Amino acid sequence: MSLNIVLIAGSSRANSQSAKVAAFLGQRLQALDICSAPRLIDLGRAPLPLWPADDLNGVWADHAQVLREADGVVVLAPEWHGMAAPAVKNLFMFAGYKELGHKPALLVGISSGQGGAYPLSELRASSYKNNRVCYLPEHLIVRYVETVMNSSESQNSDDLRIRQRADWTLEMLGHYAQAMLPLRGLIAMDNAEFANGM
Ligand SMILES: Cc1cc2nc3c(=O)[nH]c(=O)nc-3n(C[C@H](O)[C@H](O)[C@H](O)COP(=O)(O)O)c2cc1C
Repeated sequence: MSLNIVLIAGSSRANSQSAKVAAFLGQRLQALDICSAPRLIDLGRAPLPLWPADDLNGVWADHAQVLREADGVVVLAPEWHGMAAPAVKNLFMFAGYKELGHKPALLVGISSGQGGAYPLSELRASSYKNNRVCYLPEHLIVRYVETVMNSSESQNSDDLRIRQRADWTLEMLGHYAQAMLPLRGLIAMDNAEFANGM
């Protein structure tokens, strides 16, 4: 069964490296027969207003619909000043358990240098409490991002290795997404008493 996987490019830049990697991973999801039509939320091209927003019927309504239909998500977080970029943090101010609750998520750190780990530890520490997204124990860090994933064929051994690792983590995400499908029918998510996590 083809899964519905949504990729979130978490940069506020219009032509971001995060969006480039998201497009590449989307192609791999198709090539690996995990998802026939991956969907992309590019926060650089369809930005959300800074929370709080007066109008939840605008861009957020579109993003929310896409997320509600997801079986799993890929969250691409660029490292800016040793942090997760603000666009991706802002998304988690909007997204709740109806969009993300008990769905598996693969984290992908993006860095033009040797960084990329800080946004992942930040998101693992804070971003899931109220929406209950389930981050996989495995994640991906795309370092020297400008030098990899630029064409259909890998250009060098580093490019090949990150592509192989990407496939491995995407396969894992597919297994989690498949296994967790029945879970959401078992967990009562509409209990108003416990709408927020502790
Ligand atoms: C404001 C700003 C701060 C940055 N700080 C870091 C940093 O702390 N560590 C790092 O590895 N890269 C840093 N970078 C470089 C980014 O990793 C690089 O621009 C990457 O392409 C960002 O992804 P994006 O193109 O999706 O925005 C920074 C970039 C910007 C624009």
